[in-house]
Amino acid sequence: MLNKLKRLIPHSWRIGIKSQLNQLELVFLRLFAFNGFLASIYYTFFSRQFYREHKAVLQGRLAYQRTLSDIKFSSALLRRNIHRLEKGLIMRPRRPVFALDYLGETIDCFIKVAASPQFCRDEFQWATDVLDEYFAVVAEHPTITAAKKQFQQVLKPDRTNAVPYCYAELIRSDCSYNQLMTLLQRRRSVRWFLPKAVDANNIKLAAQAASLAPSACNRQPYQFMVAHGEKAIAMANCAMGTIGFAENFPCVIAIVADLSAYPAERDRHVIYIDASLAAMQFMLALETLGLASCPINWPDIELREQQLSKILGLEYHQRVVMLLAVGYADPEGGIAYSQKKPDRLLVKDVC
Ligand SMILES: Cc1cc2nc3c(=O)[nH]c(=O)nc-3n(C[C@H](O)[C@H](O)[C@H](O)COP(=O)(O)O)c2cc1C
Repeated sequence: MLNKLKRLIPHSWRIGIKSQLNQLELVFLRLFAFNGFLASIYYTFFSRQFYREHKAVLQGRLAYQRTLSDIKFSSALLRRNIHRLEKGLIMRPRRPVFALDYLGETIDCFIKVAASPQFCRDEFQWATDVLDEYFAVVAEHPTITAAKKQFQQVLKPDRTNAVPYCYAELIRSDCSYNQLMTLLQRRRSVRWFLPKAVDANNIKLAAQAASLAPSACNRQPYQFMVAHGEKAIAMANCAMGTIGFAENFPCVIAIVADLSAYPAERDRHVIYIDASLAAMQFMLALETLGLASCPINWPDIELREQQLSKILGLEYHQRVVMLLAVGYADPEGGIAYSQKKPDRLLVKDVC
């Protein structure tokens, strides 16, 4: 109906109307961008663009609370607090007593984790070792004595070495700047692939490389959701930037991050940062394994969110950060030149 009406209006009129509407929109935007209150009015009554994000953040906060009692494979709270303990242990000078304000919740969580048979063994080992080290070096305090007693009663693995160590003990690297530059220049966004299946083991190897990326408080609130064949193409078609080449993707990976890793709104962007840092390492690792990739923008458009959430079976608080097309590059396939900004545009001295 709307399209039929549009066709009745002459082309030059349509352009004129569009330009007038754009002007009107600018006036509107200038008014509502004036302060935070007006901006909120705008996004409450005139635009629903943030609808999903608002709801997802709240659902994430609720889901975080649920994860405190319903512990499955990993615990965001335990990971964060064990990380805080590690920072306390390496503090210079180390305080004789520290971590009192979060020790209780850490031990409570540790006890629940110990009772969960499906919980990640490596995560449990790390928590065990760091807590053991903490109780070995910290000075006496009634809160610490009570927590230590609880810790000693938990059935846990023997201590290993998953505790802080000195910089001098770090693994040595022979990778020079030039070698790294070669790898970085070699990784390009590849959009044309050979019809060859991607080995699941290579995806696992790339995920191991990705897992070494930094993440806020070491929470690592993301997953790589892997699809091959028809499902991969269906996922690629949910995005917007794949028109014309989605059908040749042998494998598509959705990088999904989880807002339930955080209890407060202030950290709502961190999941995207953590996932993106991991994504970069993932792509570089693929390159070393002979595989090519192309990141694909995931637009925040409700209909597309619904389509992809259905395919992936996502909870509302799980957010798609980006898609990745993965495969063996077609040697005859084109690569966009994509000129890079020089360092003088990227580096700015703070005066
Ligand atoms: C977040 C993100 C989203 C992207 N989305 C798309 C996309 O939807 N379609 C596409 O063909 N390329 C996409 N790209 C690839 C970029 O076009 C590409 O990275 C850029 O042009 C630089 O080229 P290079 O990756 O070969 O260095 C995306 C890249 C990023 C990082």
